[in-house]
Amino acid sequence: MNRINIALDGPAGAGKSTVARLVASALGFVYVDTGAMYRAVTWKILQLGLRPDDAEEVARATRNMEIRLARSEQGQLVFVDGENVTDYIRSADINRNVSFIAQNREVRRLLVEKQKELAREKGVVMDGRDIGTSVLPDAEVKVFLTASARRRAERRYAEAGTPEQTIEEMEAEISRRDQIDTNREASPLRRADNAILLDTTEMELAEVVEAVLSMCRSYV
Ligand code: DC
Repeated sequence: MNRINIALDGPAGAGKSTVARLVASALGFVYVDTGAMYRAVTWKILQLGLRPDDAEEVARATRNMEIRLARSEQGQLVFVDGENVTDYIRSADINRNVSFIAQNREVRRLLVEKQKELAREKGVVMDGRDIGTSVLPDAEVKVFLTASARRRAERRYAEAGTPEQTIEEMEAEISRRDQIDTNREASPLRRADNAILLDTTEMELAEVVEAVLSMCRSYV
């Protein structure tokens, strides 16, 4: 297969990361989870005791931090200033604060630059919110994955080993994040004009993966 880039966007909990990982593995491509980069910045900002909504301080701190992605048997690892934060970035505390960081224009500029660089040689499956619109506007395959907020909360709940929240709390949190991600000024979450919409509310994971793979086949 030719090396192409695949952009997978959509709201929180639509199954992007699971689908992206499986598609990447089926094609022998690299999976890049861009949400993990925003989460890693959030972790560091909280660690530094800064307020996530203090745009200038957050921008300054982000310019001074080194974010690095690495691959391992367990999947993508994220390092901030040399520290492996992969296991720390999925907490409820990070979930609550990450949208503030993702609204910061300078943070977005710095991370988007890094993401473009990671995809320069192609053969990448990248998931996020603005991949098809801003990061990889020329991606050969663009998919916008969505599902009802309730179904997304149920999936998040099932994934969490020991859930810190009830399904109802997760659903409320997901709806709140959708609101912020969709309405922010900097790169809001929206479907690229040429992205294919896949509503996965009633779809099994294997069907979704197959649907994305079939969009890639014409590039073989
Ligand atoms: O996909 P996720 O839940 O790990 O994303 C975490 C947050 O980062 C979420 O609020 C949306 C934001 N995000 C973004 O704004 N742009 C991206 N490309 C990826 C994530």
